[in-house]
Amino acid sequence: MSNWPVHATISGPVVMIGFGSIGKGMLPLLERHFEFDRSRFVVIDPCDADRGLLDERGVRFVQAALTRENFREVLRPLLTAGGGQGFCVNVSVDTSSLDIMRFAREVGALYIDTVVEPWPGFYFDSKLGNEARTNYALRESVLAERRANPGGSTAISCCGANPGMVSWFVKRALVNLAHDRGDAAPQPTTRAEWAALAQRLGVKGIHIAERDTQRAIHPKPRDVFVNTWSVEGFVSEGLQPAELGWGTHEKWMPANAGEHKTGCGAAIYLNQPGANTRVRSWCPTPGPQYGFLVTHNEAISIADYLTVRDSAGNAIYRPTCHYAYHPSDDAVLSLHEMFGRAGRVQPVHHILAEREIEDGVDELGVLLYGHANNAYWYGSQLSIEETRRIAPYQNATGLQVTSAVLAGMVYALENPELGIIEVDETDYRRCLDIQSPYLGPLVGRYTDWTPLTDRPGFFPEDIDTSDPWQFRNILVR
Ligand SMILES: NC(=O)c1ccc[n+]([C@@H]2O[C@H](COP(=O)([O-])OP(=O)(O)OC[C@H]3O[C@@H](n4cnc5c(N)ncnc54)[C@H](O)[C@@H]3O)[C@@H](O)[C@H]2O)c1
Repeated sequence: MSNWPVHATISGPVVMIGFGSIGKGMLPLLERHFEFDRSRFVVIDPCDADRGLLDERGVRFVQAALTRENFREVLRPLLTAGGGQGFCVNVSVDTSSLDIMRFAREVGALYIDTVVEPWPGFYFDSKLGNEARTNYALRESVLAERRANPGGSTAISCCGANPGMVSWFVKRALVNLAHDRGDAAPQPTTRAEWAALAQRLGVKGIHIAERDTQRAIHPKPRDVFVNTWSVEGFVSEGLQPAELGWGTHEKWMPANAGEHKTGCGAAIYLNQPGANTRVRSWCPTPGPQYGFLVTHNEAISIADYLTVRDSAGNAIYRPTCHYAYHPSDDAVLSLHEMFGRAGRVQPVHHILAEREIEDGVDELGVLLYGHANNAYWYGSQLSIEETRRIAPYQNATGLQVTSAVLAGMVYALENPELGIIEVDETDYRRCLDIQSPYLGPLVGRYTDWTPLTDRPGFFPEDIDTSDPWQFRNILVR
């Protein structure tokens, strides 16, 4: 396809922070789908490894690391140059999403990111304590900012694939399930109606269930962390505590679980690293599989969004929600190697470029479980071959993220005065309309599998046979 639809016009400067695997992948999508003044397009990154891509297009590159001290000074002239409404696209690591979002809104610019990223130091600060190192705490900091400064220019928090796109998948999956169950009510339009639908359908929980089968041409060398997206990002979140939105149907909690005394109350954390915490889950290609319960913003935001409360404010319905991530085989090996030496990360980091991948699919969806039809997976099966055909400079994992950023940007341009919002609050139909051409097959599959299928085997297990969908049965212990 060469006639790409132009979805929107950006009237002011475009400032992209970060030119790593996601930043590079954004480049062709920005060029294809937006009208903007290219002389006011700027990319900021301390590393100039890929600046050739920018130079050959005449795109301005600022080689700098944004810091707590310099970000205002660096960003102000760039985001305000030449009038119109600027757009700040933050796809970097080691910068504070909250500070940059606040600043972008101060100067009237639109803003989008894919994670609530903190300034460096946060993830590995042993003095902070595990509760403070959670995504719950990071998300609450964004919610506090929105309470303090409601309205104003739109800033979309956490609009990548996950967090991000999967919130749109949850809504589509709920609608599909409602249809298949003969639920004739009109499609929900408010948060309360979405939560009521999930409750009515009896959805006990949601896995963000992913299997990345992208296979490197060359096997992983020893002492190298190999991944299909940011190694730094994955290691940071993987060493945060495991976290999950905590459903009202749960009857058992792990002994090392922690609850939060402040905030929305939708999630708990475990006193163990997420990337070393396994859960039983299911995806269409492998069927049953182990995934890692890596903490993610969407585990909390989706559970919070779908909570039904009584008049006293007590949660009477909430689905459990968490990530169940089987990354690429090389990333699994990398984690094994890293945790084998007490979490000390390998000295060399490598993100697999599209040309380094033999074959494979990033199968990323949502598994809605515990309802009358047992379990339903809805998601994207994007192969590396299709990715190469439709967009340069990225693998399948990257394209699921960059196309979500594209959809979020269009949504922000069409709705520029919403203040700070989460992806759960955007229009899933509009966003998926924009994103779908980049997602490969979008499929829905029912399964009879439960976490108790074929268990117990040879050995006794501590399981709850009264309800297969208890977290007690899902967590690998
Ligand atoms: N929501 C999602 O689905 C999703 C998926 C993948 C990545 N992400 C997030 O997107 C971000 C980027 O991921 P990636 O795969 O491109 O990572 P990457 O590691 O490939 O690239 C990050 C880039 O940020 C740059 N950077 C580091 N410090 C900086 C600073 N102080 N100022 C400006 N730039 C700086 C690095 O030099 C690097 O080029 C990460 O935060 C990651 O967690 C989100």
